[in-house]
Amino acid sequence: MKELLVVPQIDSFRTFKEFADEFELGPADLILTNEYLYDPLMKDADTGSSFIFQEKFGGGEPSDIMVDEILEQASKLDFNRVIAVGGGTVIDIAKILSLDEATDVDSLYDRDQLTRSRKLVILPTTCGTGSEVTNIAIVNRTRKGTKMGLVSPAMYADHAVLVPEFMKSLPWNVFATSSIDALIHAIESYLSPNATEFTELFSEAAIDKILRGYSRIAKDGRQVRSEDDEEYLKAATGAGIAFGNAGCAAVHAISYAFGAKYHVPHGESNYQFLTEVLKEYRMKKPGGTIAELEKLILDTLVKYEFASEEESDGFTALEGLLSEILELKPMGAYGAVPEDPEDFAASTVANQQRLLKNNYVPLTEEEIETIYKNRM
Ligand SMILES: [Fe+2]
Repeated sequence: MKELLVVPQIDSFRTFKEFADEFELGPADLILTNEYLYDPLMKDADTGSSFIFQEKFGGGEPSDIMVDEILEQASKLDFNRVIAVGGGTVIDIAKILSLDEATDVDSLYDRDQLTRSRKLVILPTTCGTGSEVTNIAIVNRTRKGTKMGLVSPAMYADHAVLVPEFMKSLPWNVFATSSIDALIHAIESYLSPNATEFTELFSEAAIDKILRGYSRIAKDGRQVRSEDDEEYLKAATGAGIAFGNAGCAAVHAISYAFGAKYHVPHGESNYQFLTEVLKEYRMKKPGGTIAELEKLILDTLVKYEFASEEESDGFTALEGLLSEILELKPMGAYGAVPEDPEDFAASTVANQQRLLKNNYVPLTEEEIETIYKNRM
């Protein structure tokens, strides 16, 4: 039985300049990033590297169209190392960019085996995806109408580099949605049938760090968030190690059809379904890991003085804390229509078996449809 695999070396630096010096960035490097990160934090390092600014190719999360255009642009450049500096979108595209003979997204999904000759270095600038330590890229396949994961050992980075200075300018909404995503990675991998004692250590540490930070925000206000930037960054990477090994499950699976249709950021669409799925699991199989998770959450919230000793419903208490970080709106507020639950449930069952197989308990298509209906 596989206990734990951590492929990239994890490094940390105080600033991008320190990283650039240590890694000897130069003309043979292609840096995929965003201009709003380049201008204040990378420009002065003067690396002589090629830069591609992802946002010039469209907003939001990676789509087949966006990635194909970036691959076309990169094909005109000469580079032997890809450096990703950004959030999940930039990281996932960089993973694809680093692959051998990557000319278009669709053909990569059709290929039996992917290979990579170039080096890949990832600097996450949000505190969510954990993508810096996983071997998967998620692309919105607009031609198929859903988000799908492209998975290969070739997409593990050589280095994941943590530089907390990038988090300073993170807007509240990006902080909220990305850190909630990290929390969900920790929770889904904790409940996964593939969890091991080692992945549990990473899940528990990530849950503790994030709930500690959130409890501080609930008590002292949003301005204390940046004091814990490094903690959130480490929590996100730790949760990435946990889900990279144990796998995510129903919350992610159910969120994709909704997120793809209404262009809802990944963490925000996951947030939509988190406690709904946890409560469904608890109802179907109340003993076992779900009870351990609920106790862990409740004990943590009591420890950090968000919940009282009398509180008995851990998932409702969690909802209360999360609502201090991000408002939970019904799906209707994003434009969802009455036929969506049935269509989304069919799409989830058809396209997301990779995730659904990691569920704490199996969910039928009807149960998935009910979860969507409960969020309308
Ligand atoms: Fe996620």
